[in-house]
Amino acid sequence: MLALSKERDNFVPEADDLVVELRSVSKYYGEVAAVSNTSIGVRRGELLCLLGPSGCGKTTTLRMVAGFVEPTSGSITINGVDMTRQPPYRRDTGMVFQSYALFPHMTVAQNIEFGLENLKWPRDERKARVEEMLRLVELPHLADRLPAQLSGGQQQRIALARALAMRPAVLLLDEPFSNLDAQLRLRMREELREVVRSVNVTTLFVTHDQEEALAMSDRIVVMNAGQVEQIGTPGEIYESPETPFVAKFIGWCSLLKGTVGPDGSFTSAAGLRLDGNWSAGSATAVIRPEHVRLSTDDASGPSYQGRVLQAHYYGGATRIVLDLNGEQLTMQERFPFWRHPKTGDLLSVTISTDDLRVIPAEEDRR
Ligand SMILES: Nc1ncnc2c1ncn2[C@@H]1O[C@H](COP(=O)(O)OP(=O)(O)O)[C@@H](O)[C@H]1O
Ligand SMILES: [Mg+2]
Repeated sequence: MLALSKERDNFVPEADDLVVELRSVSKYYGEVAAVSNTSIGVRRGELLCLLGPSGCGKTTTLRMVAGFVEPTSGSITINGVDMTRQPPYRRDTGMVFQSYALFPHMTVAQNIEFGLENLKWPRDERKARVEEMLRLVELPHLADRLPAQLSGGQQQRIALARALAMRPAVLLLDEPFSNLDAQLRLRMREELREVVRSVNVTTLFVTHDQEEALAMSDRIVVMNAGQVEQIGTPGEIYESPETPFVAKFIGWCSLLKGTVGPDGSFTSAAGLRLDGNWSAGSATAVIRPEHVRLSTDDASGPSYQGRVLQAHYYGGATRIVLDLNGEQLTMQERFPFWRHPKTGDLLSVTISTDDLRVIPAEEDRR
């Protein structure tokens, strides 16, 4: 494993130092807007993730940055230079494809060397860079293998080494872990983060997996139907979702539609009341499992009786869907297996409203 530099760990990219800038970019296929009026800036040295459900335009956005897809309108600059109509090889980007796309008839070393040869690098320098890249991904002993003789995780690392060999200004990755099994995904996630950190490369990363995005990114762009819903740090996206879509897509939550009255309290459509100090009007309350707790004697705030609709034991915790005054809420608690609640049981719970997000309807664009 590479040693992580502490300095790099506390890295905060500067807001006005943009390596990639998409301005009002749209891509139409006939009548269909794959990407619509999207503006995104990738800051120097950061790992920015495009996150959203399948078909929301992530791959199209990434391929427009790489130059494989031409925008219908808008502009893309890389390090301040307009690249909107430039071919991929002029853009100073390195790409890792979902399927890795290693050249099957070339050895690992030849795969990594390929781009350098095209640039007519002298032989000695090519060899030195290939060795450096193989050390970076910790596979120097596999230089002479063919891709078919590698495991999925090894192919992934070679694809990364190939993309980084030319020291691109921007590294682009499209769902790079989708062909790996669950355990390997977790390990590769950490490895990739370490490698991109150690070479300080600005990285744009695509995934539909919210946990992957939260764990890996400096910032996340949440996309929905070809548009940006919200851009922020993992903490901002999870704790302060700006739209119900973002709340629902990032982590488990229950969305209750209702109204905030003149006294600042929220009442859901089914009549569940939450005391707070929100601004009056129609709104959606975002209730995360961790906001709902079993009542204890010293609990503050009102207690509610909930009926268990579903209970799933996950070992460390039990995820429960409760019917609370006609609203369905998900909660998570640690129950010993012998006290595991059953469908129909009554539970007494409190809802912590301190950091509970209530999104005013006018801020919800959809
Ligand atoms: N070459 C294409 N021709 C027609 N439609 C396309 C093409 N590429 C993508 N699309 C459409 O654009 C939308 C966004 O696709 P894509 O960027 O691949 O989404 P994602 O990567 O988020 O799953 C989808 O509706 C998809 O069907
Ligand atoms: Mg895709």
